Amino acid sequence: MDIIYQPKDMQDWSNAKRQQGKTIAFVPTMGFLHEGHASLLKEGRKRADELVLSIFVNPTQFAQGEDFDVYPRDMERDLDIANQTKVDVVFVPDTQFLYPKYYQTFVTLNNLPNYLCGKNRPTHFKGVSTIVAKLFNMVKPHIALFGQKDFQQLTIIQQMTYDLNFDIDIIGCPIIREKDGLAMSSRNSYLSKHDRQIAPCLYQALKTARNQVASGERDTQKIIAGAKQMIESHPNVVIDYISIFNSNTLDEINTISSSCRMALAVQLGKTRLIDNIELKI
Ligand code: PAJ
Repeated sequence: MDIIYQPKDMQDWSNAKRQQGKTIAFVPTMGFLHEGHASLLKEGRKRADELVLSIFVNPTQFAQGEDFDVYPRDMERDLDIANQTKVDVVFVPDTQFLYPKYYQTFVTLNNLPNYLCGKNRPTHFKGVSTIVAKLFNMVKPHIALFGQKDFQQLTIIQQMTYDLNFDIDIIGCPIIREKDGLAMSSRNSYLSKHDRQIAPCLYQALKTARNQVASGERDTQKIIAGAKQMIESHPNVVIDYISIFNSNTLDEINTISSSCRMALAVQLGKTRLIDNIELKI
């Protein structure tokens, strides 16, 4: 397994592999890897000849006052997991190479970032689309894998890839959960013991909604009210949003239809948690 630090070295490596006719799968991450990340790596391993993992805590997707400075990092453990999942290259660029002095170019989407998480984090997705576009130009993959855990992010990357004519297949992968249903996340490490016990209530609320839809409920306001009540029965959980929306446009809907999802974000102590589920008719 190689570790590459410089964008130019990454491009040279990818150009050489492409010249040899090899296909490249790419999994971008911010590190502190868990089984969710590993599932993307395993899927990428199956789908291409070469597998590239990037680890970069991207400052432009954190607003002031968010957790950039304390975002968990453990390079040794990450490299172990990369080894186990048979990664070929770990790309670990430095901020000074990616955002040098006088850096001034950003990728923004008009509409999709205004929904869900974008309402309270208005600059977040500008940072995400920009870094992913930059990484695509450095890693030059044939396919890139993203988790449905960050469903809005996945939708935005799919749209950006289409709009900017990146010749890359975007693969969305299922959410990996702890035994008690909590969606795996690097940020779960912030949870106190007490909050960790409460955290599975997010998935419980989503599952309850899914069951309501399966047994015929079609009124999204009723479903959302039920979820709100379940989550707010825990006093230290503050709901940011609960939304039922069209999976393609992210537009909120009043009546359950085909192709819709429910997503939520909460603040639990000092930890922001997100989760979502498909609602099948
Ligand atoms: P990060 O939070 O490290 O996540 C990297 C990838 O892992 C994303 O595609 C995310 O959706 C996926 N992932 C995280 N938890 C998951 C889980 N429990 N199950 C399945 N997939 C999961 O998302 C980012 O980093 C950044 O925004 C990034 C795209 C790297 C740009 O900086």
